[in-house]
Amino acid sequence: METIVLTGAAGLVGSVLRGPLRAEARRLVLVDREPLTAEAANEEVRQADLSSAEDVAAVIEGADGVVHLAGIPDEAPLPDLLQANVLGAHHVLEAARLTGVRRVVLASSNRLTGLYPATRTVSPQDPVRPDGLYGVSKAAVEALGRLYADKFGLEVVCLRIGSLEPEPTEARHLATWLSPRDCAGFVLAALRHPGVRFAAAYAVSANTRAFWELPDELGYRPVDDAEGYRIEGAESFFTEGTPQGGDFATPGYTLLRGRLPTASA
Ligand SMILES: NC(=O)c1ccc[n+]([C@@H]2O[C@H](COP(=O)([O-])OP(=O)(O)OC[C@H]3O[C@@H](n4cnc5c(N)ncnc54)[C@H](O)[C@@H]3O)[C@@H](O)[C@H]2O)c1
Repeated sequence: METIVLTGAAGLVGSVLRGPLRAEARRLVLVDREPLTAEAANEEVRQADLSSAEDVAAVIEGADGVVHLAGIPDEAPLPDLLQANVLGAHHVLEAARLTGVRRVVLASSNRLTGLYPATRTVSPQDPVRPDGLYGVSKAAVEALGRLYADKFGLEVVCLRIGSLEPEPTEARHLATWLSPRDCAGFVLAALRHPGVRFAAAYAVSANTRAFWELPDELGYRPVDDAEGYRIEGAESFFTEGTPQGGDFATPGYTLLRGRLPTASA
């Protein structure tokens, strides 16, 4: 690709993708509200806040593909999630439409379906069951992506990212782990696989205990498997009564971080 724009480039996922995207593009534009420093001749950095549609259009103009990661990656008050995740994605999609970007890859999340039981295999065709307000914000992000694909002809891939970690460290990761190498593989495929108008797909390693269907439409088969790592407590996690979101799916997780009032005694 000639030019790729990566938003949220200073974050955890962005840091993993930076090298592989640099190798893919003649020009890689790294965008974040935090300062960044170019590390290669084909990198350009832009400090910008995606809360302004005009600023987004200015930074993505001329891109062949945009990987949009910037946002809040966990439970938070809904107004904050709507601003950062939903309006941020809308600004990127709208700027892509206006400036003629061909393909946009949106960071979605496995937490969109975190209230399915850990014993169930879930596919992107299943109805969403968000495990919190963050998951709700990603459902809205995917709906925006679908709208811009169906109505305006953009190519949009929503990647439901699993748990990106150097290696799995807890029982839930036996199903949800996404290795850095598979993360890069999914994102590169989402950017360049031909013939995709819209796709919502789980990005997860080839875990023996994965509870999400792997996508066929992106042409990437993951290679890593969490099963080879020594993890305590695995059997008690993979039961009917455990939600896929694990601790994220508990009421307390949302009550505390979403700052919702609790019922008085
Ligand atoms: N890390 C994971 O395992 C995981 C799992 C599922 C989904 N995701 C999604 O992937 C994306 C990246 O996650 P992450 O873990 O790297 O998060 P992160 O918090 O480490 O990085 C997010 C980056 O976005 C930037 N940012 C936030 N709001 C911005 C704005 N308005 N304008 C410009 N920059 C802004 C932040 O400065 C930060 O550098 C998020 O959309 C998240 O929901 C991540």
